[in-house]
Amino acid sequence: MFLPVLTCLAVLSDLASQRHVFLGGHVGFDSLPDQLVSKSVTQGFCFNILCVGETGIGKSTLMNTLFNTLFEAEEASHYQNGVYLRPRTYDLKESNVQLKLTIVDTVGFGDQINKEESFKPIVDYIDTQFETYLQEEMKIKRSLFDYHDTRIHICLYFIAPTGHSLKSLDLVTMKKLDSKVNIIPIIAKADTISKSELHKFKIKIMSELVSNGVQIHQFPTEDDAVTEINSSMNAHLPFAVVGSVEEVKVGNKMVKARLYPWGTVQVENESHCDFVKLREMLLRVNMEDLREQTHARHYELYRRCKLEELGFTDTDPDNKPFSLQETYEAKRKEFLGDLQHKEDDMRQMFVNKVKETEAELKEKERELHERFEQLKRMHQEEKRNLEEKRSDLEEEMNAFNRRKVAAETLMGQSLQASSQSFRKDKKK
Ligand code: GTP
Ligand code: MG
Repeated sequence: MFLPVLTCLAVLSDLASQRHVFLGGHVGFDSLPDQLVSKSVTQGFCFNILCVGETGIGKSTLMNTLFNTLFEAEEASHYQNGVYLRPRTYDLKESNVQLKLTIVDTVGFGDQINKEESFKPIVDYIDTQFETYLQEEMKIKRSLFDYHDTRIHICLYFIAPTGHSLKSLDLVTMKKLDSKVNIIPIIAKADTISKSELHKFKIKIMSELVSNGVQIHQFPTEDDAVTEINSSMNAHLPFAVVGSVEEVKVGNKMVKARLYPWGTVQVENESHCDFVKLREMLLRVNMEDLREQTHARHYELYRRCKLEELGFTDTDPDNKPFSLQETYEAKRKEFLGDLQHKEDDMRQMFVNKVKETEAELKEKERELHERFEQLKRMHQEEKRNLEEKRSDLEEEMNAFNRRKVAAETLMGQSLQASSQSFRKDKKK
């Protein structure tokens, strides 16, 4: 029997256990990317946007413009006691791709006199979504396949077009969020600021962000297919946008624009604003990267901190790998040790308490006894005094009686004497 002719060439790679092998013909696994696409399309996608910006800065209008639709929107009042987040989820479909879109609005942001805590509800919301995902991941019976992932993939931070500088609220909020979410700063209502002012404003914002150590999202440049566009777009940050769903006829085309007495600002005209750049980066080029960054960077950080907080580690104190089982056993031992320690402490405390109470009771008993003795002594003293008084009184009474008897005798004798002398006088 002949051995089949070797049609592949094996080359030893750097790793001893892995070898590069060339195939002699088509086997078919090059369809893997197509399989992946088909599976993803069937499953659908989800994308979650957080809009952080003052009341009335143009958040809802921009979302409507971005997705070319009218999402439900309620005007927020300026009299909220605090900031709260309002998520709304929509099912969208474009061609055969389904997108579950969640838009989270910050209601009442920037309306309070004291804005110190304004960032807190936003941070809490982002953390809660991470926590919910982590809980799902740690379940014994997980259902991540059809799990509605609510983790925030992008935070659009709306900056007011003051032409001045960032407000401290903006800097504080972005600083608190930058390790939790991808932030893209945008200058809202950019039609209200002149071109030269806008240029200076963008430079000012970027330098303030850098000097305050705020990390904003950078579009990835590693992938050759997007290197050029992403690096040129990174240089345009923050995007200066205009929002409008109003259609205006310009030439012979209907375009989205804002109409003013002096002219028209076209939303999709790149010489008027950066709306197209934002849409290109957010929806058409980097949506998947934003989702990936959220999972691989921000969620990973949250998960790591959380697990470390719970006492899990990958290595032991000698830097040797530590399995989950070992961590669990160590934690259990530590927990039982703690429990034993606490039990001993409590027992000791109980014994001390009993001893203390016993001593207190003894002291009270001694005090009572002393008091009883004292009262007894007092009673005897009083009794003695009374006895003395009684005997004095008896003596007095006896003396009185004696005097009385003597007086009566004396009186009897004198009566007798006087009657005899009376009788004598009569005889005479
Ligand atoms: P709340 O949800 O109430 O906080 O407001 P919002 O941030 O969603 O603002 P909204 O989109 O409701 O817009 C508020 C006002 O600003 C509306 O009158 C919009 O027409 C106007 N507006 C929105 N975008 C722009 C813009 O790009 N330029 C100008 N000049 N006005 C805008
Ligand atoms: Mg709104």
